[in-house]
Amino acid sequence: MNIKIFTIFPEMFNGPFNTSILHKAREKGILKIDLINFRDYAQDKHKSVDDYPFGGGAGMVLRPEPIILALEANWDFNQPNQEIILVTPQGEIFNQEKAKELASKDNLAFICGHYEGFDERIRHFVTREFSIGDYVLTGGEIPAMVMVDAIARLIPGVIKEMESFQEDSFYTGLLEYPQYTRPRVFRNLKVPDVLLSGNHEKIRLWRKKESLRRTLKRRPELLDKYELSPEEKILLEEVKKEESANG
Ligand code: ADE
Repeated sequence: MNIKIFTIFPEMFNGPFNTSILHKAREKGILKIDLINFRDYAQDKHKSVDDYPFGGGAGMVLRPEPIILALEANWDFNQPNQEIILVTPQGEIFNQEKAKELASKDNLAFICGHYEGFDERIRHFVTREFSIGDYVLTGGEIPAMVMVDAIARLIPGVIKEMESFQEDSFYTGLLEYPQYTRPRVFRNLKVPDVLLSGNHEKIRLWRKKESLRRTLKRRPELLDKYELSPEEKILLEEVKKEESANG
């Protein structure tokens, strides 16, 4: 996958994109990420990318020319399977489903804003707009990193074991079951016996049940969208009984 990020703060991306799984994916060539500083495309001698809003008001607005010139110099608008994403709190809310959809693309551009907002005409050149949640950050860089990370790990070959994300919270639609590793007892807190039993079927059922319990207790609205299998229906009824018995 080819990703191009249009930003006036390319240095912000160095840590996340040069570490761990994203770094390996770039080294393997599965993921190509280019950072483009759209200040380089500013038209005046001060290299200004923003200006006062027409009509007055607080703050500055990103001008259209640097962003659109940067896009035109670095982007093939006719290439197949692409999205040009404006990163903005006004966009669709990004979630795991959107990550899956975007992971199937070959080419993604992210335009990161700063200041009070974008000149509205920039919107004519983009295909999607995404927000990472209902809170306002100082710019689009951190949201772009979040989205690239969530998308990249779904590209085949980026994570070694595909199963490791197929069991993730949200991938399945349920929260993940509790996990334990060594030691078997830590400060008097014990690993559940079933996980030490070696009985794979019992372990599978326990995990499924605890995944349902966790989702019911923490994110019950996820269950409204989730299609329960006959086995899951039985397990969820058991969980509900146990939880009401426990007050
Ligand atoms: N820019 C500022 N806040 C943002 C958010 N929550 N999502 C996307 N872009 C943003």
